[in-house]
Amino acid sequence: MSVQPAFGEAQQRLREARSICVLTGAGMSAESGIPTFRDTLTGLWSRFDPAQLASPEGFRADPALVWRWYAERRDGVRRAQPNAGHRALAAFEQRHPGRLSVVSQNVDDLHQRAGNAGTVRLHGDILADQWLDPCPRGLSCDTDWAAPTEPPRCSECGNLVRPAVVWFGEPLPYRAFEAAERAAQSCQVMLVVGTSGAVWPAAGLAALARHRGAFVVIVNPHPSEIDHEAHLLLPGTAAGVLPALLDPL
Ligand code: OAD
Repeated sequence: MSVQPAFGEAQQRLREARSICVLTGAGMSAESGIPTFRDTLTGLWSRFDPAQLASPEGFRADPALVWRWYAERRDGVRRAQPNAGHRALAAFEQRHPGRLSVVSQNVDDLHQRAGNAGTVRLHGDILADQWLDPCPRGLSCDTDWAAPTEPPRCSECGNLVRPAVVWFGEPLPYRAFEAAERAAQSCQVMLVVGTSGAVWPAAGLAALARHRGAFVVIVNPHPSEIDHEAHLLLPGTAAGVLPALLDPL
């Protein structure tokens, strides 16, 4: 089957859409050198245990181990640069102000650095810190340390600082998810890029958009768990497909 007609139809739908919601996952940043989670050989969860490294229980069990793992990932994010896919989305928003909402499951800041400043972050921000528990003294985190190998601790109450990402078993930030639902409900086209569709509630946004009448396009080199929600599948990578798809629009 040729992909050309699908590509042309996707472009036509995007051209006509007043409002476009882009839902991105780890595949969006793969070509920037940030590993995905579930790709068979390179995905983080094929080499590391998410229960140990991405849950409040894992952090309480061994805070230093989890802190060091995130310190390495933070370094990787700081070194990474937006790829051609991020840049194509940012350039589209600049050419068409107000038509594009980016909703990302990624905890990196590559959409923001590319220029999509209003990107909704469903799973937090790996470069930010927060207290593990609500601090009884009501302090905010001091983020000004020199590469500690252990998480800073409140000298008064012993509370620990942790990365401000959503871990397994934790709710999504309420305002971010609300904004994501609004974007999914009101768009004419939803463009899903680089997600396995395995993690909820983010994965449900494609179904929500479709249910509300949006045309759903998925960009991914491999099958995903939400392919059945798509009107069109564009097989390929973010940096390969997005510039070809969006730059002419
Ligand atoms: P996954 O690792 O589950 O899926 C990555 C997807 O990207 C797969 O479907 C790949 O086929 C696809 N992919 C790989 N390379 C690509 C490329 N160059 N271009 C486009 N697509 C590519 O990542 P997510 O779906 O984002 O949670 O995972 C969802 C959540 O699970 C993450 O946000 C994270 C993780 O646990 C939190 O951090 C809370």
